[in-house]
Amino acid sequence: MSKLTFLSAFIRNPKEVAAVSSSSKYVVNKIIKNVDFRNAKYMVEFGPGVGAVTQAILDNISPDAKLICLETNSKLCSFLNKNIKDSRLAVINDTAENFDLYTKKLNMPHIDCIFSGIPFSMINQKSKKAIIKKTKNSLRKGGKFIVYQQYNWHLGKYLSECFDKILKSIEIRNIPPTFIYICEKT
Ligand SMILES: C[S@@+](CC[C@H](N)C(=O)[O-])C[C@H]1O[C@@H](n2cnc3c(N)ncnc32)[C@H](O)[C@@H]1O
Repeated sequence: MSKLTFLSAFIRNPKEVAAVSSSSKYVVNKIIKNVDFRNAKYMVEFGPGVGAVTQAILDNISPDAKLICLETNSKLCSFLNKNIKDSRLAVINDTAENFDLYTKKLNMPHIDCIFSGIPFSMINQKSKKAIIKKTKNSLRKGGKFIVYQQYNWHLGKYLSECFDKILKSIEIRNIPPTFIYICEKT
């Protein structure tokens, strides 16, 4: 069901969804193992899709933690709300660029980790830079911005304008292979 929902969202909006299927368990595991969940309570996710990463975050966070997901595709938001019932999760139908409005509204005192699967290559340079800068500013010291992207390493130069510590890796067991950046606020 989630596979069909994702594929149909891609067929209708290829530039927005930008992948034919959601992230594989190999990508999800690589992302998750980079987070110290014992010291992370306030999380944000950009572009959850059908929730491959979302569910893994929820499986690891504490009972009093919070996760805000920003997703532009309203059908995918409805899918998430119907299929993931978890009081720690808030799904917002808005662009990642506005995430700080919701972290304030939902009283997040700081952010420990921001996960992003949005297709930055489809986003104009001004918005791309604005999202990355705002992300860095809102993270606590030691907080992480974990970005996974398909197709290429193009985002590296934008991330390195804001983050000094960046670990890069590729996971080929995904369609298509995925480039993962773990950026830490030092
Ligand atoms: C490549 S899919 C990744 C989905 C999911 N995170 C995964 O790993 O399977 C990109 C997702 O980002 C959403 N998206 C695209 N642009 C966005 C934006 N500016 N703000 C929030 N979500 C966005 C799309 O609708 C889609 O669900």
